[in-house]
Amino acid sequence: MSKPVKSPLRLALFASGTGTNARAILQAHRRGDLPELEPVLLFSDKDSKAADYARSIGLDTLILYPKDYPSRQAHEEAVIKELEDRQVDLIALAGYMRLLTPVFIKAYENRILNIHPSLLPEFPGTNSIERAYQMQVPFSGVSVHLVDEGMDTGPILYQEKVNLEDGMSLEDFEEAIHKVEHKIYSQTLRAYARKILSGP
Ligand code: GRF
Repeated sequence: MSKPVKSPLRLALFASGTGTNARAILQAHRRGDLPELEPVLLFSDKDSKAADYARSIGLDTLILYPKDYPSRQAHEEAVIKELEDRQVDLIALAGYMRLLTPVFIKAYENRILNIHPSLLPEFPGTNSIERAYQMQVPFSGVSVHLVDEGMDTGPILYQEKVNLEDGMSLEDFEEAIHKVEHKIYSQTLRAYARKILSGP
């Protein structure tokens, strides 16, 4: 894709679930904390709380159900078309539960970020907080990274540690991790947007 030169960069949020991260980003934007970004779309692959919230604040909200397409590729091509129509510059995956194909990654190379609830490369994949808790690690954390073709493997942009304190329940630990997620995702998005806008 051609490089945007204009601020604010047009941001699409991808979410499949509760959408607390998408919501934190949208709230940061509303507070004026993300001046280099303009959220233009919430995309979901299913009916989700994330989509409900986006609709409730009047953000352009789109759901394309994979089952309505003959193949994974056809679904992704439809998504890409919608992104192109909206001139999206940057994509933030926020609990988007589908692995993107190489075609998609190539179309938005270095323009897709993801947040993951562990210190990658530790605990990639699903149930990361629970697995870390079950192992009683002294700490885990949160990673924001660029998305490549692997599962949670792209270059890391920012990480923050979260201690597993004595006596913490799994719920306490989850809450502590989500709190950090909600703080660092918008901050990292802003730093990355600035980097793009400052040119090569
Ligand atoms: C978060 O823990 C995020 O790190 C992971 O999926 C979860 C999404 O939560 N990728 P939410 O839908 O943003 O509440």
